[in-house]
Amino acid sequence: MTHPSMKIKKHISLKPYNTFGIEAYADAFAILEDKEDLFLLQSLKEQYGKILILGGGSNVLFTDNFKGIVIHNQLSGIEILSQDDQYIHLKVASGVNWHSFVLHAIKKNWGGIENLSLIPGTVGAAPMQNIGAYGVEVKNVITKVTAFNIEKGIFEEFDNPSCQFAYRESIFKHPENKGKYFITDVTFQLIKNPTTFNTSYGDIQKIIDASQDSTIHLKNISEAVIKIRQQKLPDPKELGNAGSFFKNPEITNEETNILLKEYPQLPHYPLSNGKTKIPAAWLIEHCGWKGLKVGNTGNHCQQALVIVNYGKATGQEIKLHAQNVQESVLKKFNISLQTEVNFIPY
Ligand code: FAD
Ligand code: EPU
Repeated sequence: MTHPSMKIKKHISLKPYNTFGIEAYADAFAILEDKEDLFLLQSLKEQYGKILILGGGSNVLFTDNFKGIVIHNQLSGIEILSQDDQYIHLKVASGVNWHSFVLHAIKKNWGGIENLSLIPGTVGAAPMQNIGAYGVEVKNVITKVTAFNIEKGIFEEFDNPSCQFAYRESIFKHPENKGKYFITDVTFQLIKNPTTFNTSYGDIQKIIDASQDSTIHLKNISEAVIKIRQQKLPDPKELGNAGSFFKNPEITNEETNILLKEYPQLPHYPLSNGKTKIPAAWLIEHCGWKGLKVGNTGNHCQQALVIVNYGKATGQEIKLHAQNVQESVLKKFNISLQTEVNFIPY
């Protein structure tokens, strides 16, 4: 029995549904736009073997066909829950496009997510890996995540600490939770008419200072971020990619000091947890991969951390290339890079 709003299609190409532009087929595919249909997911999972919740497909790599059912999230709606003089609390449906939500907030002069402008994908995937950019992480503004537990057929609420947010991590990304939760809504606390801003990362302040309107407000921060991103990151519409392929590694201060002796120019950022963050892009570039084309793939010429599909790459080819990059970084710097992108099938 299926709900009339969920049409199940068989043997569907996933190429239009992933920003890497990888050709892979799903046994079955359905669009979910009505929360009532969530109650069908367990039986669909049993029928097709596996389930994959897909948003914008901007953080996945299909390494093979998907033997199961793909549920394409199109839940929509933004609801104001409460507000006072300082804050506004919003419940946003997980299928809403992330950047549209950012633009909506900027228009209303609600602060907190302007530095996260132009990140592709959906609101529901934002807590999944605690998206971050330009000195801000989404965990700073999330108060609650509502997720449908597919196995149990119930909605569960996760307050901020229960989400176990960390750098590019959350409870939802843990291996035991893959295919278990469908995030349906994210609740945000944004600042009304903010007067303090985060412009310290990279060239944000420099771009604002050089612009005609050098007073700082949400719109020009967003525009500065967009400008920087467009200069560095390839547009998936022109060149398939999923943003940073690996996470930036965190190493001990002792390991950093050893590396600095050999590579005094190594960029390094001490963290409050006693470790030091090293830009993976620098390590990859210094292994000679930046701008190098290997078959149908390679590392982008402007941003070595971004692996691209020159058009005909398979997921396996990209996976193999990524492994070669990992091996060379391990050999040269003794640092093991962890992937940020989600490999599917999981
Ligand atoms: P998808 O790729 O569809 O899914 C990603 C994972 O989340 C999958 O495992 C999927 O099963 C799961 N998932 C998705 N929706 C749900 C849901 N509702 N419930 C449960 N599980 C779900 N990321 C950053 O953090 N910072 C950046 O600056 C950044 N820049 C990028 C730039 C480019 C050009 C690209 C292509 C990507 C970039 N990314 C960045 C990565 C990506 O945009 C984010 O991870 C984004 O949140 C993914 O959203 P999505 O809807 O496309 O997720
Ligand atoms: N660098 C190089 N070579 C390069 C690019 C960068 O050596 O080709 C070095 C430079 O020293 C530079 C430093 O790396 O100062 C950092 O580069 P950048 O500011 O471009 O950021 P990143 O660390 O490579 C991270 C996130 C991005 C996010 C940006 C901006 C991760 C894994 N990536 O990249 O997120 O947009 O910062 O805040 O943390 C993503 O997650 O998909 C993503 C794009």
